Amino acid sequence: MYPEIDTPALVIDLDVVRANVTEMAKVATTNDVGLRPHIKTHKIPELARMQVEAGAVGITCAKLGEAEVMADAGIDDILLAYPIWGEPKLRRLAALRERARVRVSLDSPDVAAGLGRLGLRTGSPVEVLVEVDTGMHRLGRPPGRQTADLVAEIAAIPGVEVVGLLTLAGHAYRSRSWEELLEISRREGEDLVATAELCAREGVELREISVGSTPTARYAAEVPGVTEIRPGTYIFNDTTMMRLGVATEETTGARVLATVVGRPSPERVVLDAGTKCLTSDGLGSPGWISAVGLPYLHMEFLNEEHGVARLEPGHANYGELPVGSRVRLVPSHACPVLNLFDVAHVVEDGEVVTELRVAARGAVR
Ligand SMILES: Cc1ncc(COP(=O)(O)O)c(C=O)c1O
Repeated sequence: MYPEIDTPALVIDLDVVRANVTEMAKVATTNDVGLRPHIKTHKIPELARMQVEAGAVGITCAKLGEAEVMADAGIDDILLAYPIWGEPKLRRLAALRERARVRVSLDSPDVAAGLGRLGLRTGSPVEVLVEVDTGMHRLGRPPGRQTADLVAEIAAIPGVEVVGLLTLAGHAYRSRSWEELLEISRREGEDLVATAELCAREGVELREISVGSTPTARYAAEVPGVTEIRPGTYIFNDTTMMRLGVATEETTGARVLATVVGRPSPERVVLDAGTKCLTSDGLGSPGWISAVGLPYLHMEFLNEEHGVARLEPGHANYGELPVGSRVRLVPSHACPVLNLFDVAHVVEDGEVVTELRVAARGAVR
């Protein structure tokens, strides 16, 4: 399998990626919402451009560093879904705003005050989205009165313009049934729309309602009043999306190619991919890392350089997977895995066609 690539290596299946990009673009057009993919999943400008060419209205980044790389590549509409705090970052944001339309999400008047100073200094208000906590309990206040009060407070700060509300229903990742996932998705949209209506009654008109992780985007997009979805992981999917029922092995597009380097016992298979190539996210859940076409191979644990897997007890083919065999591993969480590789090897129609630089990897500031 791909003898021209030495392992461990990141392999991106372009056919799968194109299909995933097209499918989510269709979700957006069908529901008449904007698609603003989160590029922290791939960190690759060429893939961001593919998403925009397929109809995305712009991109979402978490970090200024990611946004700078994407602006260098000509992406000119960026949502920084992260509170930007401190003078060094505000200076970089000012420079970025000269090259792209940039919106920022936040959940505090303190962060808004810094942005307001920048807006006044440059004579152009910084557009912000106020983050709402729809159940993940990360950033944001609960929907309704508490958020409406925050919106009013931030809207009164000179130099910022509150254009909308944003949420990430990250608790959907923990949903235990399809019904629960659908309910979280619906609430993600409805809670924000109701909060925006409350803000409007109190004099602050909001035009953007931005929702949607990969598990929830397809369903939150259907809620009337939602204007934008921001899935990221959908471009590659991973075993978490498979567990949640929104992906299958066939729709996973980023795999770690690994070689068997040890068979110390009939059932144990040691691979040359550990935590330097894969993430321990999801460790302990069944199928947290899967091997394409090998449902009877179960990853047990990762050290830095070793992935230790086990063939199912009593499996007929203990002779399978001798040293030197190659396997394609589907990670439990695609985004941090991309952050571990300088380049991605791209395959199309089963052939290795090119390499892409993971240009925004390590952009933590
Ligand atoms: C603010 C924000 N929006 C969108 C996303 C994309 O979600 P997902 O990775 O489920 O596609 C993330 C992911 O962490 C996020 O933090």
